[in-house]
Amino acid sequence: MRVVDLDRDMSDVIPTGMTPDSEYLFDRMTEVTLDRTGAGPGKWVLDVASGVGQDSIALAARGARVIGAEPSRRMTGMAQLFAADKKGPMPEWVRGWSDTLPFATGSFDASICKGAMDHFDKPEQAIAEMARVTKTDGRVVLAIANFESLACRTGRALDDLRQDVLGWPPTRVRRGYDAPSDHFTRYEVELIREQAESSLVTLSMEGISMGWGMPGWSKLMAQVPDAVARRAVAAMGRAGQRYPTLADVIVLVGRPRRSSNTSA
Ligand SMILES: C[S@@+](CC[C@H](N)C(=O)[O-])C[C@H]1O[C@@H](n2cnc3c(N)ncnc32)[C@H](O)[C@@H]1O
Repeated sequence: MRVVDLDRDMSDVIPTGMTPDSEYLFDRMTEVTLDRTGAGPGKWVLDVASGVGQDSIALAARGARVIGAEPSRRMTGMAQLFAADKKGPMPEWVRGWSDTLPFATGSFDASICKGAMDHFDKPEQAIAEMARVTKTDGRVVLAIANFESLACRTGRALDDLRQDVLGWPPTRVRRGYDAPSDHFTRYEVELIREQAESSLVTLSMEGISMGWGMPGWSKLMAQVPDAVARRAVAAMGRAGQRYPTLADVIVLVGRPRRSSNTSA
């Protein structure tokens, strides 16, 4: 039986109040993911698991022809609502699962999948499908949370200290280093690299932001003067760029691994 979050509305993952560290992480993750598509006039871009459609809409605003593919009618309904009060070219919305994309081989100049692969029951098949529907000289861009980030490692080490050394009881809140219940996969750099390997030639792997979710970090960033917080999160961001294994989000860019004789 396939279990999927068709009724989710993302209110559990999108923070209601933005602290400077959250703002930096979400803005940079979006900026880098969208930039790596090379979207512009004349380009066709596929947004896999497009959710409420904000990235598809942003890509269309860059002049690209965009298709947002999403299995959840509820999510697509929200995307259509968001798009309704905007001007300019809009994406097309298609109902589709990531592991059986309803498009011909080589249809797109770029395919993206942002913040969604950990929800897929067949992520390797999804990458293979993204590679198939993307042109041989196109780009597949995968952006995913890193559960071996500095923040996750620090949170885990502090909990081990509290429980194993001090003998304190476990905290009741969901620990930031545990994958949420609607995730099938707990990604880190080696796993995403390994899963991408059979369908993509990896061109780059970038780390985005560092320290998000580290105990006390968000609170501190909300308390210090805004200019100090912004400098601190940007400095941590540069560290994340340098050390993707410790970054909060990983963005992998690849090109389809197939012969140009055999497909578009
Ligand atoms: C956390 S949302 C991310 C949405 C969007 N990419 C973003 O960055 O905001 C995850 C999305 O994955 C979709 N999803 C879950 N399983 C899927 C699957 N097997 N194939 C395609 N989409 C799926 C969900 O319906 C949901 O819209």
